[in-house]
Amino acid sequence: MRTLHKSLIAAAVILAVAYGGASIIPQTRIPDNIANIDINDNELIQRGAYIARTADCVACHTVPNGKEYAGGLAMQTPVGAIYSTNITPDKETGIGNYSLGQFIGAVKHGVRADGKALYPAMPYPSYAIMPDEDIEALYAYFMSSVEPVRQHNADSTIPPVLNWRWPMAWWQLVFAPERTFIPDPDASAAINRGAYLVEGPGHCSACHTPRGIAYQELALRLGDGDEFLSGALIDGWRAKSLRGEARGLASWTQAELEEFLTTGRTDKVAAFGAMADVVQHSTQYFTPEDISSMAQYLKQLPPVKGRATELATKSDSTTQDLLNGNYTSRGATLYTEHCTTCHRADGQGVARIFPALDANSAIFANNAQSVIQITLEGGKMPATPADRMAFTMPAFNHLSDADIAEVINFIRNSWTNQAPPVNAGDVAKIRHFISAKAPHITPAGGHHE
Ligand code: HEC
Ligand code: HEC
Ligand code: HEC
Repeated sequence: MRTLHKSLIAAAVILAVAYGGASIIPQTRIPDNIANIDINDNELIQRGAYIARTADCVACHTVPNGKEYAGGLAMQTPVGAIYSTNITPDKETGIGNYSLGQFIGAVKHGVRADGKALYPAMPYPSYAIMPDEDIEALYAYFMSSVEPVRQHNADSTIPPVLNWRWPMAWWQLVFAPERTFIPDPDASAAINRGAYLVEGPGHCSACHTPRGIAYQELALRLGDGDEFLSGALIDGWRAKSLRGEARGLASWTQAELEEFLTTGRTDKVAAFGAMADVVQHSTQYFTPEDISSMAQYLKQLPPVKGRATELATKSDSTTQDLLNGNYTSRGATLYTEHCTTCHRADGQGVARIFPALDANSAIFANNAQSVIQITLEGGKMPATPADRMAFTMPAFNHLSDADIAEVINFIRNSWTNQAPPVNAGDVAKIRHFISAKAPHITPAGGHHE
């Protein structure tokens, strides 16, 4: 009894000290010597508009078909949904009262105007390396040219205790250190620019780097460890390894990468799921120089230790079988019934219209989660001026789990593809995940925090 008493007191003291400390940390992260800027300076605003594109602020802070930057997008985490906030300059419900210093505090250090810590669903661990001058330009853009929208922010659905914000201040101290971009002295200016865009504003790592038990990215740059851009799950999509591996970008040319980032397609593949949004809202607006820098940087990333850089070659017997009407498995029959019209018997699709399924690194990835999700849910290519139409892939959620597994095993192991099998249980899990996604918040349904 007495020991229980003592440990309770000890726990209370630790909690009080932790809580007290947590309330001081955020203050130390808000910059104090802030420059005076003219938020109506047109050149500054234009620069800020481009930086907002490179940082893709619009993607998370806007719901599909909603007002730009008004927030309300649901972001799923293992413990509940977090909603992005209204970052239009509306004074009552948006960030209209944010000073420049508070804005830098939020974007680079994850500290809200009221001193509370932001969840890392906002990618400030990446934005931390952006120079203050760039955030000043962003501020001018948001304050002077974004239309104010009155829309209240929504509470997260994370249960009490887990939703306490103060422990986040300690999290930030450990996992979101203050840091600057460290250029590689041996690399070209273009490769360093590409590294900066990928690590910083582009926050590619927020999706493509695996996270640890505390939701921290396991590496924020290549120098932090081999996990960097080694592939991760985001919102049920598998954001693939971007390293120079046989199942990563080794099968891509520099030109293909540039084309993919600019238009969301190549003759072979189409961006889908979360990546379609990235191209749609962000990378299609990059200057050709910035696109080329990113592609050069990505193409020279080394493979993760132990991962194959070449796969055994396999010759295609599938095309002839399908053309001869020789259906060797249920998967082959399902493919012919549901998929051949677009993706063709030879698995080559139609260049820039229907992606190829053969020799497409999104298909033969080790992890099949994205392939399962797009087959269940369908998808839409990003729309860019480079192509007249954004084609859609229909949803096949009316097929049984077993049939989805059969057709996926077929496409992942036909033609020249080789990949590990999936089963009906894997499909059932993803079907459940999709149906359990929290809806986004719209102005009518919003409520005050
Ligand atoms: C990957 C998604 C994502 C991206 C990209 C993103 N944000 Fe956020 N942002 C969020 C979420 C989610 C929150 C709310 C987090 C919370 O409640 O703790 C947030 C919060 C904020 C806040 C605090 C607002 C408040 O309500 O007090 C500001 C300011 C902000 N973001 C600005 C930006 C800017 C500027 C950019 C682009 C440079 C950006 N965000 C990009 C997800 C994102
Ligand atoms: C919001 C999450 C998200 C962000 C941010 C993101 N990606 Fe992706 N990315 C994905 C997903 C999911 C896929 C798989 C779907 C696909 O292939 O289109 C993907 C696929 C890719 C592919 C195709 C890889 C392959 O082998 O098929 C490339 C290349 C790529 N991303 C580059 C980037 C770059 C560069 C950035 C940063 C500018 C970035 N991504 C940021 C989610 C993201
Ligand atoms: C009506 C035409 C059409 C049919 C039928 C169709 N697809 Fe697709 N598929 C597309 C389009 C268009 C995309 C690109 C979607 C995107 O970018 O979001 C696509 C993309 C895909 C992808 C992701 C590859 C990539 O690089 O984007 C997979 C996997 C896929 N389809 C599998 C299937 C399977 C399996 C079937 C049959 C069960 C099927 N598709 C039937 C049109 C079709």
